[in-house]
Amino acid sequence: MNSPEGGMKRVLVVCLGNICRSPIGEGLLKHHADKAGLNIHVDSAGTSGWHQGNQADPRSIEVMSLHGHDITQQRSRALTKEDLLTFDAILVMDSQNLRDVQHFGSSRALVTRFVPEQDVPDPYYGGDQGFESAYQMIDQAAYDWIQNWSKQTLD
Ligand code: 4NP
Repeated sequence: MNSPEGGMKRVLVVCLGNICRSPIGEGLLKHHADKAGLNIHVDSAGTSGWHQGNQADPRSIEVMSLHGHDITQQRSRALTKEDLLTFDAILVMDSQNLRDVQHFGSSRALVTRFVPEQDVPDPYYGGDQGFESAYQMIDQAAYDWIQNWSKQTLD
């Protein structure tokens, strides 16, 4: 799906706090796009603004670092109405995020779960295993999205 304006595809990754799951999603979409040579714009946001301006959760930074990715430059921000109009795809982490984004306003974007038909459980209140498990789910799905979008640009 190319942007209707013909510009670079714009993808927004969304979770509740924009400190645990969606920063991992942003980092891994960028990683797989780079590897595939796909030029896309990737950002992330939270349905809440509770952690606005904060770095990703230290456990997300750690699990990404263990797998060779640096997300220390990311800062949390809240989803805006403008996002619904300026992104081509909004990929959310769970079905509550999906409801929240849908109730936030009408969107021209594809709004769907990052991992098709599955929720990525919120790891915020759990242990480190939750972050590794989230990483694995998100990494596989990020690879799959980039493969699909790479094929579409050849159409
Ligand atoms: P995230 O995780 O939505 O994956 O960023 C959470 C982060 C913070 C909170 C909940 C979930 N919180 O309640 O502050």
